[in-house]
Amino acid sequence: MNIVLIGFMGAGKTTVARLLAQRLNLKWVDTDDLVEDRAGLKTHEIFHTFGEVRYRELEIEVGKLLQGSMELVIATGGGVVLNKLILDYLTHKGGIIIYLDATFETLRLRVKSHSRPRPLFQDVSKAKELYRFRLPIYKKYADVTVTTEHKRPKQIVSTIISYISKTYL
Ligand code: S3P
Repeated sequence: MNIVLIGFMGAGKTTVARLLAQRLNLKWVDTDDLVEDRAGLKTHEIFHTFGEVRYRELEIEVGKLLQGSMELVIATGGGVVLNKLILDYLTHKGGIIIYLDATFETLRLRVKSHSRPRPLFQDVSKAKELYRFRLPIYKKYADVTVTTEHKRPKQIVSTIISYISKTYL
């Protein structure tokens, strides 16, 4: 089965996916990277040139491509939960959905210190509204919620591994 990481921008999905895959000796992908490869453009360029709707279409296409995948650690873009179909694709052959949780303030500070431009985090009050709107959706789809608050990526990975071994092995 796949291990699918969901959560808001700045949750650490990419870093955790890479480390988790290393620890479990699995391959990993990031849906944002796959979208960018497919479009031949960076995320912010897709948003600016074609708009969010096009970005979401590309996310669906990428999800569909991953439908047949197994034993993959998948870092998702923060918005994949807007379309349940994508999560269904990603877990089609079986999967665990892990929600990486943090307070909005922590996410804001993390995003601020990153150089990657995030089109939906340009305006902090809009991002906060988005966070509030999405929080119950992340929780609804998660098999497990893992807090990332005051945690290093390595600690988060250990928590995930102990959850998986207790629950699935
Ligand atoms: C988005 C999150 C981004 C990226 C795009 C939209 C969102 O990914 O997919 O900018 O809607 O939350 P990260 O969560 O990896 O930053």
